[in-house]
Amino acid sequence: MRVAIIGTGYVGLVSGACFADFGHIVTCVDKDKAKIDKLHAGIMPIYEPGLENLVANNVKEERLFFTTDAAEAVKDADAVFIAVGTPSRRGDGHADLSYVYAAAEEIGQMMNGFTVIVTKSTVPVGTGDEVEAIIRRVRPDGDFAVVSNPEFLREGAAIKDFKIPDRVVVGTEDERAKQVMRELYRPLFLNETPILFTARRTSELIKYAANAFLAVKITFINEMADLCEKVGANVQEVSRGIGLDGRIGSKFLNAGPGYGGSCFPKDTLALTKTADDYGSPVRIVDTVVEVNAARKKAMAAKVIAAMGGDVKGKTIGVLGLAFKQNTDDMRDAPSLDILPALTASGAKVVAFDPEAMKEAAHLLKDITYADSAYKAVDGADAMVIITEWDQFRALDFARIKGAMKGNVVVDLRNIYSPEDMAKHGFAYTSIGRPAI
Ligand SMILES: NC(=O)c1ccc[n+]([C@@H]2O[C@H](COP(=O)([O-])OP(=O)(O)OC[C@H]3O[C@@H](n4cnc5c(N)ncnc54)[C@H](O)[C@@H]3O)[C@@H](O)[C@H]2O)c1
Repeated sequence: MRVAIIGTGYVGLVSGACFADFGHIVTCVDKDKAKIDKLHAGIMPIYEPGLENLVANNVKEERLFFTTDAAEAVKDADAVFIAVGTPSRRGDGHADLSYVYAAAEEIGQMMNGFTVIVTKSTVPVGTGDEVEAIIRRVRPDGDFAVVSNPEFLREGAAIKDFKIPDRVVVGTEDERAKQVMRELYRPLFLNETPILFTARRTSELIKYAANAFLAVKITFINEMADLCEKVGANVQEVSRGIGLDGRIGSKFLNAGPGYGGSCFPKDTLALTKTADDYGSPVRIVDTVVEVNAARKKAMAAKVIAAMGGDVKGKTIGVLGLAFKQNTDDMRDAPSLDILPALTASGAKVVAFDPEAMKEAAHLLKDITYADSAYKAVDGADAMVIITEWDQFRALDFARIKGAMKGNVVVDLRNIYSPEDMAKHGFAYTSIGRPAI
């Protein structure tokens, strides 16, 4: 099949490379010329494990192409994916659909023959109807179908998630479109991946419901962690104790500094707006949005309390800036709330992240960047772990202790054991676990 992908960001690039690897001929389009130039030069615009090789192999096999010219990609395509951003609209939190609608208009002008237009971007219920109306307006005679096919990949594990997904959701009632979608995902049929065909609106809602449910789960365990701190219980044991119940499941039960990233914050907010618009509020999700925002803000106070209530003139070494490990994505990362609050309280912050410092440098100006974890804590009064990168899980504590001026460690990801840290002589604070 010939595939065009409009928008070569996290989702567009990973989907494009994976579809090419399935054997389709894929052209990824982006308006951002610098991004396309980089891809032509073999440089990945994002950090995602395994992506560089996957892209290189498929470019070499002449199945994967990059261009800024949408017409070239769309004119011969059997399927055109819309994978542009749908950020929160400034001011009201609704999903900003301007990029999706602009892409729909362009596709309408350029498509040829029967074309399946697939919305992979996360879009509110009813967006497919609007995309269809736009294309119909541009091409009253056009032969096309608009399908919803939300993406569930996780940054950091995106290739595996795309190639071995728990399920694929396809929202369409058009038989020809179903056939095209079956053909596109044929390698997954062989793996017996469940492919769920639904109505378009149902498929659009499934994506938001999935993200909101996971956000609820994270926020639930975060509140349990706060309660554990008050009552002297251990949240990790609570997680295990409830997670072993098959009805609950053990994933997304790690207490931490609050969820961030490019999806959960904007998608939970957009779902609450849709629900309000339809007069059917989702009060659990309303609360989750509020609790999570407050939590991210509260983490700086936790650090300050661990340092005796005053950080003026003190140096804090921070490990991890990205919203989670294995990505350079800084969108809505907890570090964006925590670090400015620490510097505003008079602390000097020195930070290290294995991949996200370039992104972070645009967003966090008043901090110093170090080129290793050990350099970040050199002379520091406290060390704060914000992101759970593997390389932070086995630090040489004798070296850290020798380099630091103070002995305070705040671990917002619970990657160390309070007993071990006490043995090393650290004053250790974590999330929802009794101090030793
Ligand atoms: N990032 C994730 O983990 C993830 C996971 C699942 C779903 N999603 C959803 O997928 C969508 C895309 O997210 P992303 O993280 O890949 O976004 P992104 O910001 O990384 O990429 C979007 C790209 O689209 C390009 N673009 C915008 N308008 C264009 C146009 N008319 N023509 C060509 N290119 C255009 C931009 O230049 C940008 O490179 C969003 O709706 C998001 O919610 C993201």
